[in-house]
Amino acid sequence: MTVARRLKPFGESVFATMSRLALEHGAVNLGQGFPDFDPPKFVREAAKQAIDQGFCQYGRSAGLLEVTRALAPQLKQTTGNSYDPEREITVTAGCTETIAAALLGLLDPGDEVIMFDPSYDSYAACVAMAGGVARRIALRGPTFRIEEAALREVASPRTRIILLNSPHNPTGRIFDEAELRAVARLAQERNIIVISDEVYEQITFTRAHLSIASLSGMAERTLVLSSLGKTYSCTGWKIGWAAGPSALNEAVRAAHQFLTFCCATPLQCSAVGAMASGSAYQEQLRRDYGVRRQIALEELRSAGFTPIEPEGSYFIVAPITHLGLGSDTQAAEALVREARVATIPVSAFCAEPAQTGLYLRFAFCKQEATLREAGRRLRAWTAQRPARV
Ligand SMILES: Cc1ncc(COP(=O)(O)O)c(C=O)c1O
Repeated sequence: MTVARRLKPFGESVFATMSRLALEHGAVNLGQGFPDFDPPKFVREAAKQAIDQGFCQYGRSAGLLEVTRALAPQLKQTTGNSYDPEREITVTAGCTETIAAALLGLLDPGDEVIMFDPSYDSYAACVAMAGGVARRIALRGPTFRIEEAALREVASPRTRIILLNSPHNPTGRIFDEAELRAVARLAQERNIIVISDEVYEQITFTRAHLSIASLSGMAERTLVLSSLGKTYSCTGWKIGWAAGPSALNEAVRAAHQFLTFCCATPLQCSAVGAMASGSAYQEQLRRDYGVRRQIALEELRSAGFTPIEPEGSYFIVAPITHLGLGSDTQAAEALVREARVATIPVSAFCAEPAQTGLYLRFAFCKQEATLREAGRRLRAWTAQRPARV
């Protein structure tokens, strides 16, 4: 009754719903994408030391300078661009806040944002909070490719932003150069800003991550977003950032100063420790996720699913039509209640699910024992199903 009209359509986040159901049913939680293992020791130690060294009060609103200075070389590595730590990088409370601050800071009422269906659930809600209008393009399974014609069809004189996410949650796509060039061409022709959410930039398998900000003519119109959570397995710490030209950072900062003002100072300091670990850690992370990905694929196949191999991210999507359970939401509910495995229906990321197809998303940022147990439960559930018909 009391929720504002602009937020009412979004209801409870699907992650909260599925995590609650997972607890209720004692389910293995492959729904919400958080690791069930600890962050590396060097990240935990950096945060502990910062608390002991007195980093406990408000800091610079745009982020501690020692933090933005530590982020700059990493951003140079992922985007090829040199961002000025004072004016071109802003630290926020996770990438979730970066998305909100960027949209609130950049959109005027009625401005349009092109985004993809499926996409991370906070995008549409933040566009609505900012008074903008979401214009969605379906990524059709099983290939989930960006089609230039579809992009051009939804673009209008009111298009202000294209909101991109690669590696992509939930499909696991890493958009290739041709797809990114199609986005870049349109952005440059129509003077559109690109917000590029790259939180899974280090979790890649079949091809390297390519930031759209690295393409010619794009650094000056792109805000690159990322966070510590995925790469350093500390999703609860909520340290994220935006990097881009100072004019775009000013917009992010204009909103961020009134959303959180600044984020947890000792946890910001952990980013300095994280960045010091360099590429050896990142290579090990990719190897570890490569193993988890193989185990998850193997377990899903052995339970009768035909999962789509992800190129990046820590998610696998698998079609559900063979289950004969109706919609993906019905399938997710049956799995959490009967098989006691929590997943996320991909329709929760879509405005028009029918165009994308019926899929469940399985998070594999889990220990081997967790993935094996999920596989065991799924197999047992599949095996007893015909007997119930
Ligand atoms: C695509 C995408 N963007 C942003 C976020 C949120 O990141 P953070 O935890 O840093 O707020 C997530 C988390 O799942 C995500 O999948």
